[in-house]
Amino acid sequence: MQPDKRRAAFELSPEEFRQIGHGLVDQLADFLERLPSLPVTPGESPAEVKQVIASERSLPESGRDPLPLAREAAELLMAHSLFNGHPRFFGYVTSSPAPIGVFGDLIAAMINSNVGAWNLAPAATEIEAQTVRWIAELMGYPADCGGLLVSGGNMANFVGFLAGRAAKAGQQVRTAGVRALDKPLRCYCSAGTHTWIQKAADMSGLGTDAIRWVACDSRQRIDLEALRAQVERDRNDGEHPFLVAGTAGSVSTGAVDPLDELAAYCREEDLWFHVDGAYGGLAAAVPGTPAELRGIALADSVAVDPHKWLYTALEAGCVLVRSPQHLRDAFSYHPPYYSFDTEAINYFDVGPQNSRGFRALKIWLAFQQAGRAGCVQAMADDIALSEYAFRLFAEHPNFEAVTQGLSICTFRYVPAALRAGVGSEETEAALNRLNQELLNRIETSGELFVSNAVMDGKFLLRMCIVNFRTSRKDIEALPGLIARMGAELTVSI
Ligand SMILES: Cc1ncc(COP(=O)(O)O)c(C=O)c1O
Repeated sequence: MQPDKRRAAFELSPEEFRQIGHGLVDQLADFLERLPSLPVTPGESPAEVKQVIASERSLPESGRDPLPLAREAAELLMAHSLFNGHPRFFGYVTSSPAPIGVFGDLIAAMINSNVGAWNLAPAATEIEAQTVRWIAELMGYPADCGGLLVSGGNMANFVGFLAGRAAKAGQQVRTAGVRALDKPLRCYCSAGTHTWIQKAADMSGLGTDAIRWVACDSRQRIDLEALRAQVERDRNDGEHPFLVAGTAGSVSTGAVDPLDELAAYCREEDLWFHVDGAYGGLAAAVPGTPAELRGIALADSVAVDPHKWLYTALEAGCVLVRSPQHLRDAFSYHPPYYSFDTEAINYFDVGPQNSRGFRALKIWLAFQQAGRAGCVQAMADDIALSEYAFRLFAEHPNFEAVTQGLSICTFRYVPAALRAGVGSEETEAALNRLNQELLNRIETSGELFVSNAVMDGKFLLRMCIVNFRTSRKDIEALPGLIARMGAELTVSI
């Protein structure tokens, strides 16, 4: 090392940075242009992908020129990835990412704010606070709520769950743990609740046996009478019901629980009311969506995922709590090695993370690019396309359209030869096998991508449109495409 100048192996000069960056931006813009004509996925096996990256090689001893390195990395990912930004990607609840977020992440990584404490990230902290408030405003949740960004829906729900645990079990649960409580804690949710609740019950020390899975009505919404009866039984058995988790947009069918009735019930019974709005929470802003969604405003805590229906590049989840103090009560510690201004927001004090990246920037930019009207219109268009898809599958002789809720529709392929036997055990088993095989075929075809749902023992294909690139033309192509793939399979069934 020279005495006055250090050039570490990690450094890039401004000129090198400029050169690599210009090349990469051109590559990525070309990708954006070609994306609709690319396969959704190359459909490769793990062995093929391992081979591409030469997975067995050891850590290189010496470094290499960063310019080709960056270019090759982009080429590799464009050739061997599944593109959830493709207009025909409809799997799970994974959105097309708004491109402005790419710039957001680039800027955030360069500034590298640690959004754990205000004085480490002055502008970033205030931008996160504003972004959280805008999310609340869009959903109709009180704008003076507390909240923060986390990695996704699971973590947002987990934070809400822990806030509820501290609020209802008291501070002793944080010191002595759940084993010291007089009565075991119990939480309640519909049978269609996402697996986050199992992880939350497990990680918070309650254990998954503490979850009471409540039956649903014919529209997959929690049955309130069954909930009341279960809570009463548990109280009589000397247990401590503490939290009800309602769902605003279930992962399988987009079902929305009767949130206002749940809120009233929780108030009566002194239960924490959490809403999993990871998928559908923001649809409360869209005119014409189920009225029950507006009940989200009454929740004690809400999880909502910008990386679902705000089209934010992964990762971005958000948790909101009605009273900001509830997050402090669940997470705050003041170690002697942190001397931060307690007047300002220090996010390490209100959530599980310590060092935190600047997730808000990509959301903040997209919010301003689209405005409230643009956000609402994009969600409304996704819903309209899903309803259109449902109609097309219902009208097609080779499909049975099963459910449509928010922007999810479910359906299954029923070839003419099996139609007469629908409902019989043998035909249902054959249809389940056929649709499972069809799903495998679709997912590696590169022509489109859907996932599945299982309802009443039926294996269904499921498409969720949180994709601002999908058009009516894409939807119109689907029944024909899927029926063709189905017909190719029927031969072998
Ligand atoms: C209703 C619901 N809740 C929670 C989650 C988990 O969200 P994430 O994958 O962002 O952790 C999902 C994911 O699809 C979901 O649909």
